[in-house]
Amino acid sequence: MKVLIIYSTKGGVSRQCAEMLADKLYSSMEVSLYDIKNDPPSPEGFDVAVIGGSIRMGRLNKKLKSYIIDNADLLSHMNTAIYLCCGFTESFDDYVTIQIPKSVTASLGIHCFGGELKPEKLRGLDKLIVKMVRSSLKTEDIDFPDENRSPLPEIVPENIYRLADKIRALL
Ligand SMILES: Cc1cc2nc3c(=O)[nH]c(=O)nc-3n(C[C@H](O)[C@H](O)[C@H](O)COP(=O)(O)O)c2cc1C
Repeated sequence: MKVLIIYSTKGGVSRQCAEMLADKLYSSMEVSLYDIKNDPPSPEGFDVAVIGGSIRMGRLNKKLKSYIIDNADLLSHMNTAIYLCCGFTESFDDYVTIQIPKSVTASLGIHCFGGELKPEKLRGLDKLIVKMVRSSLKTEDIDFPDENRSPLPEIVPENIYRLADKIRALL
């Protein structure tokens, strides 16, 4: 079974999620992993396509969106999953509605893999923005602290593994 995984990333988190997913597939599966920057092949000839990337300033990477639109017909007639990495998972449904092209049907679902806000992995303006967002997230619940809740976003491995289970079940 041939699996195509394409991701867009700026800080590496969406790539990490793609690699975590690939690691959970059977070794007999032929997995091809591509950064959207490196002009990935068409999904034609693959049995499964997984396409994902991060949300930044409310948007999904332009090139990744174009890839989905250009291949919408093919993707809608094969086993396809889409994933998003986002820091503010409560807005996931909105990102799906606004950012995922309507022309595609993802038979394996659209998944939220969480995200990270780690300034040490970033440079320039991104680093500055993340530092500011982190400090506001850490202090905003100071009046109503909740010990059970991490104020900072994290990758959600169980969502990645759930998709891996779905793909393995296709064999
Ligand atoms: C400059 C910047 C803008 C971001 N904007 C959003 C956003 O609008 N919504 C959101 O949920 N997360 C946002 N995030 C959080 C990212 O989605 C999160 O850091 C994700 O893990 C980044 O994945 P990547 O390293 O693959 O690019 C932003 C992060 C950065 C650095």
